[in-house]
Parts: sequence; structure tokens; C-alpha cells
Amino acid sequence: MATQPNAAASGQFLIGGDLKVNRLGFGAMRIVGKGIWGNPENPSRVRETLAKLPDLGVNLIDTADSYGPYISEDLIREVLHPYKNTVIATKGGLTRHGPDIWAPVGRPEYLRQCVLMSLRRLDVERIDLWQLHRVDPKVPREEQFGVIADMQKEGLIRHVGLSEVNVEEIEAARKHFDVVTVQNLYNLANRQSEEVLNYCDKHGIGFIPWFPLAAGKLATPDSVLSRIAERLKASNGQVALAWLLKRSKVMLPIPGTGSVDHLIENVGAADLQLSDEDFAALEAAAK
Ligand SMILES: NC(=O)c1ccc[n+]([C@@H]2O[C@H](COP(=O)([O-])OP(=O)(O)OC[C@H]3O[C@@H](n4cnc5c(N)ncnc54)[C@H](OP(=O)(O)O)[C@@H]3O)[C@@H](O)[C@H]2O)c1
Repeated sequence: MATQPNAAASGQFLIGGDLKVNRLGFGAMRIVGKGIWGNPENPSRVRETLAKLPDLGVNLIDTADSYGPYISEDLIREVLHPYKNTVIATKGGLTRHGPDIWAPVGRPEYLRQCVLMSLRRLDVERIDLWQLHRVDPKVPREEQFGVIADMQKEGLIRHVGLSEVNVEEIEAARKHFDVVTVQNLYNLANRQSEEVLNYCDKHGIGFIPWFPLAAGKLATPDSVLSRIAERLKASNGQVALAWLLKRSKVMLPIPGTGSVDHLIENVGAADLQLSDEDFAALEAAAK
């Protein structure tokens, strides 16, 4: 039997200077129903996928109260509690009104409820990494950042991250608390957050690219990506992940799946070393 891959090969990152994780993590958004709503179609397959994470060295798991809602956090607790040496990073600040419908609510009392309920669902005394899922444009951001700072001082949250923010917003938040991670849409084909990534790199802030497997038109047959993948005997997705890992030392990709086979394939990207030439060819193709 072939040896299993291990996320440790992707290298390590210290979140907030004290939480050591393997850089290749797992996103737990896809372990619920269609439209990120309701129960998964195949709950036993999802439980099996979650249970496999520790064997594969995956010790950074990203979730949110709004995935399901609640179901992703509930499944993580059921399968993985008490989370030995694993960082469960959750988020709050988005409400759900149906499949694929998301609405931010950043009122301080709601953000406090998000944290208190995630603590209960995950069954922890303190959340290792709590991320503001969206800054609510309808609520003064100082109020949103203020209550987060309060909850950190009270010991409900260990570290704070942000999601879908620009550099100006990160700097505004840093006046209230240390921003240890930023989670923005980013992949080989979508580079709209390049400036934010460079800022994170410069300041040692973890950058969590969501939708990391996407490669859009770059993944068509006979593309540069496909040819590199074929030569390396890897999948397009593995090359896309390896490219992210090589792009920056603060990069923490969290590919998500509800399938053990896909999980093993994704973790296999940790072992894939792209040459400088292949990295540059992919960079050029993306431009
Ligand atoms: N902060 C935010 O606003 C935000 C937004 C979106 C996502 N996220 C986070 O980012 C994580 C990743 O984002 P994402 O789920 O949108 O994108 P992704 O991880 O790039 O892609 C997931 C999709 O790819 C499929 N997949 C995974 N591995 C595969 C493989 N080896 N072969 C073929 N298909 C594969 C999955 O289906 P199968 O289940 O069938 O494998 C799923 O449909 C999420 O889980 C969530 O934690 C955050």
C-alpha cells in the first residue's frame, strides 16, 4: 500500500506567534448540504473525511457558524473533539436566510452571540482563531472591532482574523487588536487580493486563500497547468495548491471536500515541489 501524504510536508506557520500549524489545512464549508445549507447528502462520508484529517497531519481546520448554519461546527465537534493539537478556526458575522443566501450582521450584540454560540457548539472555553466573516457596511466598523477586542480581552477568543478585507480595513482593525490571519478569495486564476497578500507577507500575517483549488481557464486540457501536472504525475488541483504554497510562506490554503479520496489527493500537494521555472510559467499563464 502506498504511504499516505502528510500535511507536515507543506511546512509550518505560527498563527499569532504561538499556534503552530501545518500550512496545508482543511476547509469545512463543503461538509454540509447544497448551497452550504442543511445536512450533508452523505453524513457518514463526511464523518469519515473529518476523522481522516489527523492521520494526514492536517491540524488547521477552517469553519464558520454560518456553514449549515451550525452543522459544520457540530460535525467537527462530534468527530474531532477535543481537537488534540488542532486549531479550529471559526467565523461569525454572517446570517443565513436560505441556500446560498448570506447577509452580514455586525451589531456588537450579534457578534458576541456568534462567539458565545460557537464556544458552545465547538465545546471549548476559548476559540483559538475567530474570524470576522465580513465587515458589515451598515454598522460602524469601530463598533465591530471594539466588541471583538473586548471578547479577546475577556478570554473568549485567543486570536482574531478577518475575511474579505482590503489593506485599509486591516490597518483600521489593527488599532483594536492584532490581526493574525486574513482570509480572502485567492487562487492561481483569481489574484484580486495580491496587494492584501503582499501586506500579510510583509507583516507576518497568515493569508488563508479561499477557493484555492480553482484554476478557471488555466485548467483546460493542454494548458500550461495541465502539461505541468501531467509531467509531475499530479492533478491540476495539486499543482494549483503547490503553486499557492510556493507563492508565500504565510500562505495557508484550506481546500475543502466531503470525500476521503479528494482529501488524500489534496494533502498530496504538500509533497509536490514546483521548480522555479514551473512556478514562473504558471505565473505567466495566469497573467
Ligand atoms: N471567508 C469566506 O468568505 C469563504 C468563502 C468560501 C469558502 N471559504 C473557506 O474556504 C474553504 C475552501 O473554499 P471552497 O470550498 O470554496 O473551494 P475549494 O476548496 O477550492 O473547492 C472545493 C470544491 O472542490 C471540490 N474538490 C475538492 N477536492 C477535490 C479534488 N481533489 N478533486 C476534485 N474536486 C475536489 C469539492 O467537492 P467534493 O466535496 O466533491 O470533493 C468542492 O466542490 C471552504 O471550505 C471554507 O472553509 C471561505
